[in-house]
Amino acid sequence: MAAPGKGLEGVVAAETAISDIDGKEGVLSYVGYDIHDLAPNATFEETCYLLHNLELPTEQQLDEIKEQLGREREPNDFVMDLMPQLAQNTAPMSMLRTACSASSANDPDGWDTSEEANYRKAMRLIAVFPTLVAYYDRLRNDQPLVRPDSGLSLAANFLYMLKGDKADDAEARIFDICLTLHADHTMNASTFAARVCAATLSDIHSAVTAGIAALKGPLHGGANEQVMRMIKEIRNLGGAGKARDYTIDKLRNKVKVMGFGHRVYKTEDPRATHLRRMAKELAEKSGDGSNYEISQEIERAVMDEKGIYPNVDFYAASVYGYLRIPTDLFTPVFACSRVSGWTAHVREQYADNRLIRPDHAYVGPERRSWKALSQR
Ligand SMILES: CC(C)(COP(=O)(O)OP(=O)(O)OC[C@H]1O[C@@H](n2cnc3c(N)ncnc32)[C@H](O)[C@@H]1OP(=O)(O)O)[C@@H](O)C(=O)NCCC(=O)NCCS
Repeated sequence: MAAPGKGLEGVVAAETAISDIDGKEGVLSYVGYDIHDLAPNATFEETCYLLHNLELPTEQQLDEIKEQLGREREPNDFVMDLMPQLAQNTAPMSMLRTACSASSANDPDGWDTSEEANYRKAMRLIAVFPTLVAYYDRLRNDQPLVRPDSGLSLAANFLYMLKGDKADDAEARIFDICLTLHADHTMNASTFAARVCAATLSDIHSAVTAGIAALKGPLHGGANEQVMRMIKEIRNLGGAGKARDYTIDKLRNKVKVMGFGHRVYKTEDPRATHLRRMAKELAEKSGDGSNYEISQEIERAVMDEKGIYPNVDFYAASVYGYLRIPTDLFTPVFACSRVSGWTAHVREQYADNRLIRPDHAYVGPERRSWKALSQR
């Protein structure tokens, strides 16, 4: 059992109008709209508009944001020069962290930190992230780049740039829903990191870079990738029939099962409900249900043994697997969605800023006197 307050549990770090969670009831809402309402209805572009403007867009506003997110998809020349080296020498999240930072070079708004400039910079970051991930994958595999198609939704265009073929409408829509589900989640570690950075009045690219750095860790965004590695391991052991023993063995050895547990939810993570359904749908469509069946067995075993629910990362792994997204791109794909939330939070922080500087509890030695080298 962690000490009270450890990990800032229960501490209110900021006021936000962007999203809210009721951990007991398992409710997530963006600007008052329940995620169960948004998932089947909203597009990711509408979600971006909502998070940034705190209202759903009218038809004209939606057209404008779609046009903006379609137009700004190409990385700038400075980033493009870096990409081949990044593709050869860095892991995907390290590439994204560096490319995000480098995207500040040649930004058309330069060092303008006005509200309007920050909104445009936010849209540019949301637009360019999927291209960075897709270009990275194609460069490392010596494949020709597939240029963005501004006529496609952000979700459909990502799948197109990654694979070179247009995804069918059903798959593009499933990926679009995934982006909406991952877009924001109150004061999660990466959003908090981004807000801490923004609160020093550092620039929006720096704040988003801090968010990427925090998302990279396996206790946060890195979990989805670890889930797929676990599913593959179980498949190699013989498949779904081996999942229960494998999982229980981990738990009894005090090893955490990735994709389970949450600081705030004490019941099912509402995002997992949609991801489970989509994983099932894709499993049936693909004719290969093994990832889904293994996931179900793991879920049952964790529930029986520890009473812990799956979080967003658990079934996201199967969904991305069925969409044939390479496993090491799962966390960057998470970032392609969460950048919408990070940038909204950063703008919210700038709008009513105070430096974030928590206190500490000192547990080191009492004050003491310097000892010369000969006396130590
Ligand atoms: C998300 C997470 C970091 C939340 O951490 P937290 O609020 O600090 O909770 P703790 O790590 O203190 O866990 C509380 C208890 O539940 C257990 N627990 C939590 N998540 C667990 C998991 N995934 N597998 C097994 N046990 C888990 C802990 O062992 C601990 O048990 P104890 O009190 O007997 O020691 C944690 O659940 C975790 O590490 N999950 C796996 C990584 C993951 O999926 N991250 C994505 C989050 S969206």
